[in-house]
Amino acid sequence: MTREEALASVKANVENQNLVKHMLATEAIMRALAKRLGEDEEEWGLTGLLHDIDVELTEGDMKTHSKLGADLVKELGASEAIAHAILCHNEAHGIPLETRLDKALFCADPLTGLIIAAALVRPDKKLAGLEANSVLKRFKEKSFAAGANREQISRCSEVGLELGEFIELGLEAMQGVADDLGL
Ligand SMILES: [Fe+2]
Repeated sequence: MTREEALASVKANVENQNLVKHMLATEAIMRALAKRLGEDEEEWGLTGLLHDIDVELTEGDMKTHSKLGADLVKELGASEAIAHAILCHNEAHGIPLETRLDKALFCADPLTGLIIAAALVRPDKKLAGLEANSVLKRFKEKSFAAGANREQISRCSEVGLELGEFIELGLEAMQGVADDLGL
């Protein structure tokens, strides 16, 4: 499965442009993580890009979200490893994170929301001038972007990154695709 095919499938199944942007942001972080950890950048990028492909199909039902997605991406030609990471990124199923790819997707997913929120409270609403330190400060403000699960982000330690480094890597990755994100 190529990146182009994956993006076309995402666009065919997701109308909400903010959700598409969330997946593009997750893709960027996953690619950067793979590079940092010496893993397969293509496979990790595809995992991020595809991970919420079923959100509209499942109408946000957490009992089916990510199960349908995992089946769908396999049908589209994605690897078992990608499908597994997608399946277990929804905690509601209680499926343990096994591989490094599973763990990477799990912590990268909520980081995108925290970084986007931190950019949107800036006067210019841009990612370009945002600094990792400000994101780290926002991380510590519990009420800021409360939907961005801090505990989940902190599990970057399970792939061997400290929080500061993870935030820096995620921010830089998202700044690299700022145009696609409209930020
Ligand atoms: Fe997500």
